[in-house]
Amino acid sequence: MDTKSRESQYILHTYKRLPIEIDHADGVYIYAKDGKRYLDYLGGIAVNALGYNNSRVKAAIMEQVNRYMHVSNLFYMDVQSELAETLCKLSGYSKLFLSNSGTEAIEGAIKLARKWGSSRGKSGLLALSNSFHGRTMGALSLTDKPKYRNGFEPFLPEVGHVEFNNVEDLRSKVDSHTAAVFVEFLQGEGGVNLVTEEFAQEIFRLKRKHDFLVVADEIQSGIYRTGKLFAFEHYGVRPDIVTMAKPIGGGLPLGGILADAGVEDVLGYGAHGTTFGGNPVACAAGLATLRELVQKKSGEHVTELGAYLREKLQGLAGKYPGFIKDVRGLGLMVGVECATECAEIVTKLLDKGILANCTNGNVIRLLPPLIIEEEHVDAFVAKFEETIRDYAKPSAV
Ligand SMILES: Cc1ncc(COP(=O)(O)O)c(C=O)c1O
Repeated sequence: MDTKSRESQYILHTYKRLPIEIDHADGVYIYAKDGKRYLDYLGGIAVNALGYNNSRVKAAIMEQVNRYMHVSNLFYMDVQSELAETLCKLSGYSKLFLSNSGTEAIEGAIKLARKWGSSRGKSGLLALSNSFHGRTMGALSLTDKPKYRNGFEPFLPEVGHVEFNNVEDLRSKVDSHTAAVFVEFLQGEGGVNLVTEEFAQEIFRLKRKHDFLVVADEIQSGIYRTGKLFAFEHYGVRPDIVTMAKPIGGGLPLGGILADAGVEDVLGYGAHGTTFGGNPVACAAGLATLRELVQKKSGEHVTELGAYLREKLQGLAGKYPGFIKDVRGLGLMVGVECATECAEIVTKLLDKGILANCTNGNVIRLLPPLIIEEEHVDAFVAKFEETIRDYAKPSAV
């Protein structure tokens, strides 16, 4: 039986696979079993910050595998504490809890917020419309996309949603009962949407008034993806809790919750836990990844390359105004809003050797490895323009 038939017979059909069977990957390229090479503008959905086959990350993994792969969180582990120290020092946050995934980091943040609120008479949780925070039941209660929620009711009680960037709606929904507001400062699954400066500042003004926690979901936008360690830094604000995942395990499953000084002691011994979270091999991969990102000055590189990519895409938008409706994002988290649903465009890009992804129906989401160079931007933009020509003629001007 071949892979496709075996998968169809034995794996739950929760993922519609792209028609590629992966053989191996290297740098910013993925190679299929049929020998075809793809330039990666998906990055394992924002996981592969250093692309593929990074020798330092591989060496760190092998070294840890040879020492031990799992012992349980009942023991001190040098590699776990070093990752925590590195993340806390880079971010200025006090303490870290390590989970296995993004949705599990959100679950932990929900528990932290509820526990913090329990002694203050606050239990309300708010998230933003169109948000994506994960698919386990707590995280799904915050996630606001019908396609993920339908049929899974009832959700957590006392969870509400504020219309994205609607300051009036925000003011009307937060009150003294609010324990936490969850925010993706740059929404990913929702279509690469930026919180406005006014909305961000209003969240923190209301926080000072009503005393609630702000949780920044940086699972997709974090770890230099936007040019800064976290997307919220672009607003000059400081959330109480930061959730992370995707790139922090260097390709292995790892998530994390950073807690600021005021909330670092809320979850005491036994209040939260996980068997696998903070797995030492994943921590070794994550630590090597972080060190490499810092050494490569990835923030600056991403800012530069992101500006170059958006400038080129704006050029295409000027040339095909009837087709490209908007180009937005920060750093190397970029959305291209198209006039049509873009699943077909993604398939056409695949045929041309480009791997990208479509989100929110008509937005092509670009999440390349943070190590791409100008030549990879030029290659992408050229293939994208070839694809657009099937849909729209260039404008006369
Ligand atoms: C912003 C955000 N939050 C949470 C999640 C859930 O993370 P995971 O898929 O690791 O559970 C994702 C995943 O895409 C995400 O983008």
